[in-house]
Amino acid sequence: MEWVTPAHADCSMEIDPISNQEQPSSETAVLNGFSDSHESEKPVLRFPSGFAWGAATAAYQIEGAWNEDGKGESIWDRFAHTPGKIKTGEHGDRACEHYGRYPEDIALMRAMNLTSYRFSIAWPRVQPSGSGKANPKGIDFYSRLVDALLEARIRPLPTLYHWDLPQALEDAGGWPNRDTAARFADYADIVARALGDRVSSWLLFNEPVAFTSMGYLRGIHAPGMKSIRAFLKSTHTVNLAQAGGFDAVKAVCPDARVGSAFSMSPCEPATNSEADKLAAERAHCITNCWFLEPALHGSYPHAFPFLPDFLIGMSSSDVDRMRAPLDFIGINLYYRTMACAASLSKRLFDPGFTIFPVKMYPANEGPATDIGWEVWPRAIYDLLMRITCDYDRPAIEITESGCSYNDGPDHDGKIHDTKRIAYHRAYLNHVARAIEDGADVRGYHAWTLMDNFEWAEGYGQRFGLVHVDFTTQKRTIKESGKWFGEVAARNAVEAISAS
Ligand code: FCB
Repeated sequence: MEWVTPAHADCSMEIDPISNQEQPSSETAVLNGFSDSHESEKPVLRFPSGFAWGAATAAYQIEGAWNEDGKGESIWDRFAHTPGKIKTGEHGDRACEHYGRYPEDIALMRAMNLTSYRFSIAWPRVQPSGSGKANPKGIDFYSRLVDALLEARIRPLPTLYHWDLPQALEDAGGWPNRDTAARFADYADIVARALGDRVSSWLLFNEPVAFTSMGYLRGIHAPGMKSIRAFLKSTHTVNLAQAGGFDAVKAVCPDARVGSAFSMSPCEPATNSEADKLAAERAHCITNCWFLEPALHGSYPHAFPFLPDFLIGMSSSDVDRMRAPLDFIGINLYYRTMACAASLSKRLFDPGFTIFPVKMYPANEGPATDIGWEVWPRAIYDLLMRITCDYDRPAIEITESGCSYNDGPDHDGKIHDTKRIAYHRAYLNHVARAIEDGADVRGYHAWTLMDNFEWAEGYGQRFGLVHVDFTTQKRTIKESGKWFGEVAARNAVEAISAS
């Protein structure tokens, strides 16, 4: 199995866009495709009314306070504290100090006219060792955060798991251990009871294929394992946990809308050969559907030519245990993936390729961002249309999209990150096109609110709409943040010619 992602890795309260509101027809969703705007005389593409304009973050990347108020150790605390794991030798001990500075950060969201804030809840803050009773101070932090968001008329969109497993659960076997699914359901129950009176939209997992593959197969993220067996088992436990977590939240808040945020990427064949086309389809199954098909259909997609149940730890009754009729699908999308068939010698002599005879690698036709990821705006259109067609037009939110450009303040004190504006403008154009063509997309969250700890890259990669000086913790809204705020206020983006 060779899997090189261009990643982390190498190299109003009334506004509830995923509530049961009626969506406008595709004709009205985008005003005749291109129309003149009063403000600027430039053609704009309008989004459906109630469309959520948001930014996303994750607890470990911004909160800091890694051992305060009874918080337990997470696998990311352990991993980042281990010499050699993070390129820059940094860690998230302080990060953006969001734990104490969240009121200031909510004021920034207000200044950018955001109507939705996607954040994650740190499991070890809530249950320090991953099981047993809740830590009241941890719960209290998220409760205050939710109250402050609602007060600011910003929808709270929490993610229950964005990669920071309690270390104690890793010590007991981590995600490859089936019991972790039951622990996750207990944790989901605790959080739903604490916040469910005020939170109406939830995400269960962030990018299951990313954290299982980078954490258990490639070893470049916490907990740093390199084992095909552990990877496959971890994926199955997460599928069981997704369904268990879904049921737990619904049991407490039956009217809540519950989804998951999946990393997705259109998978393109390297050549027109039948072998490469089949490889691209297999890549699509593992990259985009491995955690969606089990939830929606109770089965695994055909990624592998042959995968005996024992290898992933699947029993026959798991077909029903994996089902979770997600109310919406969160999509995180940054780039394309290329795929080609593995050569015969690789298939014969490399066990990874015997199981998964596909080579996946990043595309590089478009310009690269500072982290090296390809900018390919059409990717978001292609993927949205595929999911729309294959899954009967589900409700979708873009839960992440963004780019790393490491611009800092200029002599005028402003951050002129024009390439970030161009990125979001182009991706949003393609989202608008997909809506016009029938996709039911109800929100777009820029990754990320503010520059933060970018996992194995440390603080070296800046994805934020807000610049953070990590020495002084001073925040400055970048030009892209101001631009995004105008787009949010107008609910429209200027149209550019299709690319
Ligand atoms: C996504 C992660 C997010 C951030 C961005 C750049 O895959 O979900 O935490 O690292 O990439």
